[in-house]
Amino acid sequence: MPIPREKFKILYSRERIAAEVKRLGQEITRDYQQRDILLVGVLKGSFLFIADLIREIESPTMIDFVRLASYGSQTQSSGIIEFRKELEMPIRDRDVIIVEDIVDSGYTLECLYNKLLLQEPRSLKICSLIDKRGRREVEIEADYVGMTMDEGFIIGYGLDYDEHYRNLPDIYTVEDF
Ligand code: PRP
Repeated sequence: MPIPREKFKILYSRERIAAEVKRLGQEITRDYQQRDILLVGVLKGSFLFIADLIREIESPTMIDFVRLASYGSQTQSSGIIEFRKELEMPIRDRDVIIVEDIVDSGYTLECLYNKLLLQEPRSLKICSLIDKRGRREVEIEADYVGMTMDEGFIIGYGLDYDEHYRNLPDIYTVEDF
């Protein structure tokens, strides 16, 4: 069921998002110099972020995707993670950066990080557009973070409610969630 628009309140404008994405791209470019990078996008939520981020990185960069889904309510993870799409490229001895739209409980990232580590990449880092620190259930931190927030349900710029609203160019909080 659609959410009434009056419940949307803008949290991060498209200009703010673009500025943070640019900064993250510059930091990654600086840290990796001219080393080859493999970005691993976590579908579906990261699809816009990774598309913008890769254009802000000036090091040689390749891309691959995994698809994970966490079970639970619309707004809260249960900690049960399902892999729906595996990596297509080998990551052994490669410099890998996992790209997420949001770290919430941390279960999704913990699960993916540990799985990728078993494949012995040369390095493994995490880049998340949003770090929702107030709800962390497991100890995991992103190495590159765009914005941090404590609480609240958000949509837009890849983030969904029941698969809707991923196309909104700005990020909104939704009241009464
Ligand atoms: C969302 C988001 C992260 C994960 C974060 O994905 O994109 O991958 O939840 O939550 P966690 O830290 O509590 O695990 P979701 O499972 O909703 O799938 P989607 O990316 O397809 O929207």
